[in-house]
Amino acid sequence: MDLNSKIDTKNLPEHIAIIMDGNGRWAKQKGKLRIFGHENGAKAVKKVVEAYAEIGVKNLTLYAFSTENWNRPKLEVQTLMKLLILSLKKEIKTLHDNDIKLNAIGNLKALPTMVYRELMDVIEITKNNGNRTLTLALSYGSREELINAVKQISIKVKNNIISPEKIDESVINEHLYTRNLPEVDLLIRTGGEKRISNFLLWQIAYTELYFTNVFWPDFTKQHLQEAIVDYQKRERRFGKTSEQLS
Ligand code: FPP
Repeated sequence: MDLNSKIDTKNLPEHIAIIMDGNGRWAKQKGKLRIFGHENGAKAVKKVVEAYAEIGVKNLTLYAFSTENWNRPKLEVQTLMKLLILSLKKEIKTLHDNDIKLNAIGNLKALPTMVYRELMDVIEITKNNGNRTLTLALSYGSREELINAVKQISIKVKNNIISPEKIDESVINEHLYTRNLPEVDLLIRTGGEKRISNFLLWQIAYTELYFTNVFWPDFTKQHLQEAIVDYQKRERRFGKTSEQLS
């Protein structure tokens, strides 16, 4: 079912972030290896990328690999990295066709050289696509991001580039990986767990959260539309009262 008619195109979230969870359990349910879940997770990524562009959302950020994911069995990590390279190579056309530029956040230098190079290549190849941004969070951890920001700001304070009194939200924002992205309006987590797992902790202060039991490989355009319809029913008060807003 296409829920397009239920979506108010004037009130679209400008930036959606997704914690793609449940690949392993999806595979287990089918009596398959976890890797099979990731392969089908990559197929869901392609469909959802096409869907967010079609719906008209400008920014999508996907949590593809966390700093903690390095602790998974070596074979699973290797396979995920291979899958990333394959998907990046394969989906350049999808990115061009949908006028999407690729972006990445995280400790990218920790990625295997082949992944890093492919990622940089696709970022370069798609940099003139003007309309939409797809950000992959890779080797990403929010606490690490904040630690880095604190370190960079401290060095600037030490060198008299910033005075401590001038440190405000915008200074912090400028030192995060997400510095060029707008606020996250809607965060979706698939797979039934209700936690944030070290993702965009600072950035989601006023984000609307949406949890669904659907495992990531089963997540479709319709599920994305359902999340947006749900988002549009909410009143975002940013700490104010309803009366102040109206
Ligand atoms: C979480 O499921 C998913 C991941 C850790 C990896 C996400 C990767 C993909 C969707 C595939 C490739 C990505 C791109 C961008 C092409 P899980 O393994 O934690 O599932 P579980 O909670 O059921 O074990």
